[in-house]
Amino acid sequence: MTDLITSVRDMQAVCADARQRGLTIGFVPTMGALHAGHGALMDQARAESQVLAVSIFVNPLQFDRRGDFDRYSRNLPLDREFCSRHRVDLLFAPSAKDMYPLPPRTFVEVTGISERLCGEFRPGHFRGVATVVAKLLNIVQPHTAYFGQKDAQQLSVITRMVDDLNMPVKIIGVPTVRERDGLALSSRNSRLTREERAVAPRLFQALQTALQTIQSGCCSAAHVRQTGLDVLSRDPRFRVEYFEVVTQADMQPVQEIDGPVVIAAAVWLGATRLIDNVTVECTPPIYPGSH
Ligand code: PAF
Repeated sequence: MTDLITSVRDMQAVCADARQRGLTIGFVPTMGALHAGHGALMDQARAESQVLAVSIFVNPLQFDRRGDFDRYSRNLPLDREFCSRHRVDLLFAPSAKDMYPLPPRTFVEVTGISERLCGEFRPGHFRGVATVVAKLLNIVQPHTAYFGQKDAQQLSVITRMVDDLNMPVKIIGVPTVRERDGLALSSRNSRLTREERAVAPRLFQALQTALQTIQSGCCSAAHVRQTGLDVLSRDPRFRVEYFEVVTQADMQPVQEIDGPVVIAAAVWLGATRLIDNVTVECTPPIYPGSH
């Protein structure tokens, strides 16, 4: 069974001891409600490190709506079993009181990346994410830390934070795990009604359509975006927050696609917010007259 550690001080001591013994630590921060997407992060971290640490902490700082924080699924015994199956050595599950004994006065803000896309609709979200991830990295001091590519903007924010602050950890992005019908795994999927679940893969289909538009030679981000939006607009249940073509490195909007980009989207389906993205590695061929 995976060791459960609930105090910051104990986690610091156990991790410091592992490092002193010359062991490499791989770290997967999570908020629990573990699913196969987290499993993929753990399996990669397991294969690449001698000690595998996972944290479960539903971080109040990153929720812009109190109801969303309260509704977040919590089941530590079940999550601990999941960790054991993925050969996790250390499960760190601190209380909010231990993580934030005093109301925090120090925050990490990654400007320029955090404000748009999800940041525009969830004010303060990435400040909360960057702050808690900085704290967790300080506590665990891992050699490598693993994050899902599904949260592309989060990955970009954290990568930049670690670079800017010279934090001695390598950040690794792990590809999105999908259901057979294309829906990206997310703890929020369980909130979908049966009818919503049936149509939810349309989000990935819209992203695939936009991707194919680029692959067919289109360089206009506006046109690419429109082809994706057209797919979503065929079902009135989807409410689009954003559907954008942005740079891979720092999630900045592009007009002309002439390098690697991410097509990123957030939609509401009933009361559930879904996000997803696809990356486009290659530069599309530029055809005369292509839009
Ligand atoms: O992706 C998540 O689960 C959270 O945003 C993270 C990185 C664990 C920070 O709370």
